[in-house]
Amino acid sequence: MQGKPKKHVLVCVQGRPQGHPRGSCRDRGSGAVYQAFLDEFQKRQLWESGYMVTDTGCMGPCHLGATVVVYPDGLMYLGVKPEDVPVIIDEHLMFDQPVKRLLAPPEIWGG
Ligand code: FES
Repeated sequence: MQGKPKKHVLVCVQGRPQGHPRGSCRDRGSGAVYQAFLDEFQKRQLWESGYMVTDTGCMGPCHLGATVVVYPDGLMYLGVKPEDVPVIIDEHLMFDQPVKRLLAPPEIWGG
């Protein structure tokens, strides 16, 4: 890939010990969400088309995960499931139409 990505998708795959009060995105299935992004990226050749996806650590709202953030838009999705991944790609990555039903409320960002 050359230059800045058109969109960069960050998927939280943070885990925590069992019984930890914050829980984690990994406990909420984020590994399968990340894998779904990888599968779709490969199938649609998104790497070659200027898109990126990266697995990350905690981004804050662990109890509402799986958490996904898309840059440069700075939009956060919560409660993401593997079946949501093609929708996020079809609507947001391809056509800049965020998937409203999954968007984090503004207060999640502290604003
Ligand atoms: S563990 Fe994913 S947002 Fe905190």
